[in-house]
Amino acid sequence: MEEAYQTESVGIKPLLRVLDGAREAIPPVWMMRQAGRYLPEYRAVREKAGGFLDLCFNPELAAEVTLQPVRRFGFDAAILFSDILVIPLALGRKVEFQVGEGPRLEPLADTAALDSLHETIDTKVLAPVYETVSRVKSALDSKTTLIGFCGAPWTVATYMVAGEATPDQAPARLFAYRDPAGFGRLIDRLVQGSIEYLVGQLKAGAECVQIFDTWAGVLGPEQFERWCIQPTQKIVEGVRRQVPGAKIIGFPRGVSAMALAYADMTGVNGIGIDWTFEREIARDTLQSRVAVQGNVDPLALLAGGTALEREVDDVMATLSGGRLIFNLGHGILPNTPIAHVEQMLKRMRR
Ligand code: CP3
Repeated sequence: MEEAYQTESVGIKPLLRVLDGAREAIPPVWMMRQAGRYLPEYRAVREKAGGFLDLCFNPELAAEVTLQPVRRFGFDAAILFSDILVIPLALGRKVEFQVGEGPRLEPLADTAALDSLHETIDTKVLAPVYETVSRVKSALDSKTTLIGFCGAPWTVATYMVAGEATPDQAPARLFAYRDPAGFGRLIDRLVQGSIEYLVGQLKAGAECVQIFDTWAGVLGPEQFERWCIQPTQKIVEGVRRQVPGAKIIGFPRGVSAMALAYADMTGVNGIGIDWTFEREIARDTLQSRVAVQGNVDPLALLAGGTALEREVDDVMATLSGGRLIFNLGHGILPNTPIAHVEQMLKRMRR
């Protein structure tokens, strides 16, 4: 049923067409973190909702902020408003967001602490997210794609182990070196939870999903293969077993050359690249394998002016000859002027 639906919608939705192997003269465009603090309409809803997690679990308000950037800018995709850290929450961990400080979790110090995790994710926790997905889906027009997402097991594990954002993810890397079998158990639990979570989103109406591996770039090649590529491959396989043909974008941030192995081994349809990735290399090696998504430097977007024009022109000149989903190399920064987003869109669509 899902498969029939997806195949049907590929024809009219530019983003799905690109993930399916086509090239678009004017590439589909969206921005990571497109629903967020740079928008006054987001800040207004956020205030009304209370805490950040209250907003994530309020289907009416979460659907509203998901749709805001699509209405304002006419993006080709809406991305579900939620967070990657709802999975630790559904596994029984405490997760909090303090204003201006980022996430705080109870740290998972050792293997013994793993025993306190639920065996499987608590579906009651995630039910409001699925409701958000179906609300957004019924509000979107026939050309706009709805993207669901989860964090990759490695990236989610880095927050679970450290309990907060750290500059180099040393706590999770140390855990993995000292006790690979124990760390593997945590990763496996996250793989199973992520499969269930993504399938839930796809069944609720998401038309493709993105796996955010924000901290992939801190790992050496061997560790990257073990903790990022293999778990992602299991998620891709597990999701497609239940939703055949599911479209999946991977975002292994900061891995440059290792993106090739990631493309070949995981089976994703598209790869997000950050702004440090050489565009010629993405064109020559990645675009024949998968769709490429990216990769304007969010700081060039913040700067605006000629710096932004040069950045947009370079992405288009180098990558728009192949399968491209135009995007940033990472999330939009909260102090970015709205006029710069308009400038970027005007420039890339001309
Ligand atoms: O618009 C969208 O992209 C959809 C919503 C979305 C959010 N987080 C909302 C959010 C998505 C896809 C995410 C993913 C996410 N969350 C990642 C992976 C992508 C990335 O940016 O690297 C990570 C690492 C997280 C964990 C997380 N959530 C952190 C570290 C923080 C604090 C840093 C920050 O930007 O404030 C968050 C909070 C968060 N998630 C906000 C938003 C809009 C800001 C909170 C607020 O509104 O007060």
